[in-house]
Order: sequence, then C-alpha cells, then structure tokens
Amino acid sequence: MNEATPILEAADVKKNYGRGGSSFAALKGVSFSVEVGESVGFIGLSGCGKSTLLRILAGLEAPSSGEVRFHGASINYSSKPALREYHKRVQMVFQSPISTFSPYMTIETYLMEGVRCFYGDGAVKDGEAERLLAQVGLDASFLPRLPHQLSGGQLQRVVIARALSLQPEIILLDEPTSALDILTQRAILELLAKLGREYGMSFVFVGHDSAVVRLLTRRVFIMRQGLFIEELQSETMKRDAKEEYTRQFFP
Ligand SMILES: Nc1ncnc2c1ncn2[C@@H]1O[C@H](COP(=O)(O)OP(=O)(O)OP(=O)(O)O)[C@@H](O)[C@H]1O
Ligand SMILES: [Mg+2]
Repeated sequence: MNEATPILEAADVKKNYGRGGSSFAALKGVSFSVEVGESVGFIGLSGCGKSTLLRILAGLEAPSSGEVRFHGASINYSSKPALREYHKRVQMVFQSPISTFSPYMTIETYLMEGVRCFYGDGAVKDGEAERLLAQVGLDASFLPRLPHQLSGGQLQRVVIARALSLQPEIILLDEPTSALDILTQRAILELLAKLGREYGMSFVFVGHDSAVVRLLTRRVFIMRQGLFIEELQSETMKRDAKEEYTRQFFP
C-alpha cells in the first residue's frame, strides 16, 4: 500500500434503524478520510449520529449501505476473524466506560485483558500494567482495586490506558473526557496528542466542545442530523465556520 492511502475512509455510509414506517435514518450518507498519523474530530448536537458513526468505524456495527476502508481494504463486517484482526489495530473508547467494566475484575486484570485476549498470557510483560497507568497519570496503587473504588474520571483514564496497551494504529474516542475536570481533560488530550506524534497514531475524536476537540485534531467535521455539513481546519474553525449551526460549538 503506498504512502498516500488513507488509514481510514468512509464512503457514503448510511445507517437506518428499524424497518418500514418506523425506520429512522441515523446516518444519511457520510464520507471522509483520515491520513496516516492524522487526527480528525466530529462535532455535533446530541442525536446527530456521532456514536453510530464511531461504532461503524470500529467494526461493531455494519452500515446499512456504503463502505468503510482501512488502509484501502473494505471492512468485512460479517467475518469474525477479519474483525478480530481489525480490533488489534483499531481501538475504541466508549462514551460511558463504566458499562465496559466487570464489577469483580481488578484494574490490573482489566488493563491487560486486551493484550491477553489477542496475544495470549505470555504477551503480558511484567510492569506493563503499571507503566500504562503511569501514562495516564495514575499510580500502581490502583492496580488491585475494583472499578467501584475509582472515580468516573479515574475509570475513564484506565479505559484510555487499556486502549493504548494494544498500541493500535488508530483510536476512536467517543467523548472520552467529558466526565473529567478541565485540567485532567487537557492533560489526557495532550498525552494522546504526544503519543500520536511519537508513534504516528491517529485519532478520531467525538466531542461537543470545539476547544477540547481542537487539542487533539487537525480537521473537524460538523455533523447535523446524520450528515456532515461542513469540514474545517481545527486551528481556524471559529474564523472559517460558514454555517450558523456550527457557531453554537464555540465557547
Ligand atoms: N440501536 C439503535 N436503535 C434505534 N435507534 C438508534 C440506535 N442507536 C442510535 N439510534 C438513534 O440514532 C440517532 C443517533 O444516535 P447517536 O447515539 O449516534 O447520537 P450521538 O450523536 O452520539 O448523540 P450524543 O451526543 O447524545 O451521544 C439517535 O436519534 C438515536 O436515537
Ligand atoms: Mg453519542
């Protein structure tokens, strides 16, 4: 594959929920691409289809029509082995991480579960869980704890650390920092941006607040009712926005 092939592309992706008269079009034809090492954001009001799009990009749900390509190859949503390989390279951080924790699983087990599941027990290196936690600003005292013994923001950092454990090429983040205070939020996004630069990792970041989305992305797509209505450079989006709708996302 040559250098110019995007890491991730969506071509006219549509998603309908339900059938017949009660059918609802959550995505009405969305297209975009992300270059290798580039990061993009989606901004839009509640219900506009951001999480739906991210789940489709993550391979967790198939589109009703259209195509998603990873390094130029179309994702086969009906092949479990192909999706498993895809999930080694593309990780998603969910909007409400609490539901992804099992109440009886320690933080250490949870952190290393991805590596164990994809590569086996032998792949779990000594000290790796501690190193991952340190990256998101938590110390080793959290490792033996259970999920209910952490705050929402701490759990969110653990989820991000686990996504990093697999050293994916791209991480899809669904409002990952909205539960955090502004300083922690900024610290985590700056950490992700740094990892992106160091490892050439890409991010797709969903958010409501343009100032936050800007910390991690180069381009943003403004989303309304299942469509992208404008594409802007993150640096200059406030100046360049043409749609009135877009202005509500600027502080
Ligand atoms: N499994 C489903 N079945 C039926 N409708 C769904 C399903 N998932 C999402 N929807 C609908 O699709 C639309 C888009 O939902 P989605 O969760 O993608 O929005 P969102 O942009 O992520 O919103 P928020 O900012 O509140 O998280 C909503 O109207 C929602 O009710
Ligand atoms: Mg959502």
